[in-house]
Amino acid sequence: MPVLLDGKKIRDEILAELRPRVEALALAARTPGLAVVLAGGDPASAIYVKNKIKACGELGISSVHLTPPETVTTDELLAMVAQLNARPDIDGILVQMPLPKHVDAHRILLAVAPDKDVDGFHPCNIGNMVSGNPGPRPCTPSGVMELLRRYRIAIAGKRAVVVGRSDIVGKPMAMLLLHAHATVTICHSKTVDLAAECRRADILVAAIGRPALIRGDFIKLGATVIDVGMNRLDTAAQVEAIFPDNQEKQQEFLRKGSLLLGDVHPLETAHAGAVTPVPGGVGPLTIAMLMANTVASAEQRLGRAPVP
Ligand code: GUN
Repeated sequence: MPVLLDGKKIRDEILAELRPRVEALALAARTPGLAVVLAGGDPASAIYVKNKIKACGELGISSVHLTPPETVTTDELLAMVAQLNARPDIDGILVQMPLPKHVDAHRILLAVAPDKDVDGFHPCNIGNMVSGNPGPRPCTPSGVMELLRRYRIAIAGKRAVVVGRSDIVGKPMAMLLLHAHATVTICHSKTVDLAAECRRADILVAAIGRPALIRGDFIKLGATVIDVGMNRLDTAAQVEAIFPDNQEKQQEFLRKGSLLLGDVHPLETAHAGAVTPVPGGVGPLTIAMLMANTVASAEQRLGRAPVP
């Protein structure tokens, strides 16, 4: 059976390492501050944001939670971001994605001060990442890199396949793996033979947002499989299509009212070398890296070199 890559354990390690740095900042009267903006009522985003705020509290980072309504305009959000940019007590600004459809997300991300951009989404910081310059890295991909590093999974010279080309995960993930000397392929919805591409992967990262798209025959024997997907199955028909005649899954669905599923079929990874569970794999690391980026931002503001 594959090694289970325990995201909660690695999260706890990362947070334990951050704790003395937060305490040192607090002693210097410089408690780190994170502002999280959640526009509208997307239920998944609301859960993510709640967990981010909770993590701040547990680590001693102060947080501001702004919740403009779904009808908020681009200009109103720009004004909100400008105010946060000007606040000396705020070290990090996170505008939760996706934004309501009528909002110009590109303008909002551009408005966040690059030195408070703890998501690493500002074009300046994307440029720094691509060039290998210091700066914040997007949290989910950098969390995956931490997971690979701390489980001592070799990357240099390995074939890595990233399924999904989002700005938040797929593209930066590919770049970080490339910087770690993997041979990287990015696949997406137009890839002709996805299964064949995936089967070449020593490290397979699934981040396309399609439940159980990655089946057992997509996975090479011994491969490391990282599942970034977080999909909710809401109907019995969906559950039956993915888990045919599976009483256990049907009952779990009836009990909970929905099933949480990654992009990898959870019952078809027995021949992998290592896998991340969903939940409890990549999710906790995203939050840990957000905390790390916020602490580093506060340290920089204090004029202290960030701990590498
Ligand atoms: N939506 C999904 N993941 C993220 C993330 O890491 N940051 C932000 N801002 N929005 C997201």
